[in-house]
Amino acid sequence: MADKKYPETLSPPPATAPANEAISTEPIEDTHDAAFSRRDFLKTSGLGVLTSYLVGSAQSHALTPKSTPSQGVLPQEGAPITFYVNGQARQIHVEPRTTLAEALREKLHLTGTKVICDRGSCGGCTVQVNGEAVCSCMMLAVDAHNAQITTIEGLAKGDQLHPLQQAFVECDALQCGYCTPGMVMSCKALLDRNPTPSLDEVKDAVAGNLCRCGAHPHVFEAALLAAKRMKG
Ligand code: FES
Ligand code: FES
Repeated sequence: MADKKYPETLSPPPATAPANEAISTEPIEDTHDAAFSRRDFLKTSGLGVLTSYLVGSAQSHALTPKSTPSQGVLPQEGAPITFYVNGQARQIHVEPRTTLAEALREKLHLTGTKVICDRGSCGGCTVQVNGEAVCSCMMLAVDAHNAQITTIEGLAKGDQLHPLQQAFVECDALQCGYCTPGMVMSCKALLDRNPTPSLDEVKDAVAGNLCRCGAHPHVFEAALLAAKRMKG
């Protein structure tokens, strides 16, 4: 999973993070019954992230004093963010805890992005953020403020499939199809930065994408076929 980027919010918070909120600098336990769950993390780190966002936004967008954090206490009702989804500027209101996956699916109704594990383990929710493959269930929507997002819906042009989508069809690279949007987006991020990948590079790019149906060999084949076609 060397190529999959995880949001910076998973790194220890910066020294400037508000001290009154219990932002953990400990690694997040990858178990359901951990005392400090991912949801807890999102609740607390979201406040820290939103502080940065609101401070920046307050300078650039002149937010009202009501929306500006006072003494580190942030409004749970959230804030507006603007990002660029599949080439279109979109402004939505998000809560501090809202993930990018939730924002895409529930606010913009882009349900091609699948949420399967909702804990960064399966790659089903992969989208491109500023060109990088990112697990959108592990990124807060406020962190996507001003970012360029590409989802599976942004690949086809009308009825014409993207070469990767066409190759997936031709190579029979899916069965139930639930992992497929994430697989395609991981492959797209790879081909964007490396138009002539080796088989090992393709395997590495989708190493974080689980497929319960065992379609991986066909996925590799499809990615290499698309690369060959896109190269011309
Ligand atoms: S749903 Fe995001 S990684 Fe599984
Ligand atoms: S095609 Fe079914 S999980 Fe991958």
